[in-house]
Amino acid sequence: MHFKLRKNVERLLGKTRCLQSPTACCNERANSVRSGASQTPSPLGQLTGDSQHSMAVDTYICFPSHKIDHVLAPLTRFRANAQHVHGDLAVEYYRQRSSEPGTLLISEGAFIAGKAGGFPHVPGVWTDEQIIAWKKVTDAVHEQRSFLYAQLWALGRTADPSVLEKDGYEYVGASDIPVTDKPKPRPLTTCGYAELLAAMSKPLTLNPPTEIQEYVQLYAQAAVNAVQKAGFDGVEIHAANGYLITQFIHDSINNRTDEYGGSIENRARFALEVLDACVKAVGASKVGIRISPWEAYNESHIDNTIPQYTYLVNRIRELHPDIAYLHVTEPRVVSLESRDPNDESNDFIRKIWSPLPLISAGGYTRDIAIEVADTKGDIIAFGRPFIPNPDLPRRLRENIALTPYDRSTFYTPETAKGYTDYPFAS
Ligand SMILES: Cc1cc2nc3c(=O)[nH]c(=O)nc-3n(C[C@H](O)[C@H](O)[C@H](O)COP(=O)(O)O)c2cc1C
Repeated sequence: MHFKLRKNVERLLGKTRCLQSPTACCNERANSVRSGASQTPSPLGQLTGDSQHSMAVDTYICFPSHKIDHVLAPLTRFRANAQHVHGDLAVEYYRQRSSEPGTLLISEGAFIAGKAGGFPHVPGVWTDEQIIAWKKVTDAVHEQRSFLYAQLWALGRTADPSVLEKDGYEYVGASDIPVTDKPKPRPLTTCGYAELLAAMSKPLTLNPPTEIQEYVQLYAQAAVNAVQKAGFDGVEIHAANGYLITQFIHDSINNRTDEYGGSIENRARFALEVLDACVKAVGASKVGIRISPWEAYNESHIDNTIPQYTYLVNRIRELHPDIAYLHVTEPRVVSLESRDPNDESNDFIRKIWSPLPLISAGGYTRDIAIEVADTKGDIIAFGRPFIPNPDLPRRLRENIALTPYDRSTFYTPETAKGYTDYPFAS
């Protein structure tokens, strides 16, 4: 391989490593942020300017106990059973994709509770059976010396109301703005004093007025279940793509007039509370968060991307600079589709977040990934290319041709076809 290209790939894949212990790196990183050091954008490798600190690499995540080379983006595949429990298929799927030691796999979205779901065949992380099933998956990944984060998911208004109804749950959202062809969701309630009084005077069939706080706690409990019981290395809060947390953040779909709506600060509140609760539950170094600042997927258009996300990311950085990572989706992709990003860019987030670990996903080819890792210092996550290429890290490193993906098998419930039957490169 051409020397420069090879050097870039090695940087992309994090081959140049920190010479300090990972824990020391992370502590130093968090301390430098807390003390306000190194506020200008810089590669992770120039975190402190300390000559003894040999971090000449700009693409890796430094967790307290491990280092990361490659990242699988979260991918829902509908292979769990009707009880939202994974079987052997998922063990094999994640085993295959962790074959290169040092890979960080971010799991498909996993429901934090039955009431937060509303799609069939998506795994959950709230029952004992689900947790035991995930433990087999995390064991398989750890046997390969790779790492697995659980993506914590609540659907809100994007749920299928008929699925919720069948399971005995209500159709709820951040507010009552409906998605096309779906009924109006019931807005989650708060524990405001006035609402508490109003709710108390109504029939007992009403949900408790502390609903939003209950959801915050469901995220925290799911984080505990994932990390302390199912053996995940951490959790990623799914605050992207128009699902429940985005429904609070994005102005076009949040018409609340209480402390969770009406201003940039209020719309960010739920996301920050969830993050805070998860950090308290399992520790900052085991929590990441995914956002999609430009994405209008699930009719989640936002008019004020830059002010809203500038506030949110600044607050995350102030409150929890030592979380595992911030994960952003790129404006050139909306969910699974390419789109023209015009002049939209996540660079304003990079400016705020640097030099902390930033994962970027969406529409990366090998060449773009090398360029962005090289010039911006991002850690690159791959979604669709990882589906038909279980050995993607090796293929990227050795520039082996990629097998094309087949969309028709993305979401086929409980079948191995298009899931675990893709070959490794010879
Ligand atoms: C089949 C499929 C399922 C997905 N499921 C999730 C998911 O559960 N959670 C999530 O945050 N993003 C999900 N995404 C979005 C991906 O994580 C990723 O951002 C997107 O595919 C763009 O990256 P890519 O161009 O590398 O595929 C999904 C994408 C695909 C193709």
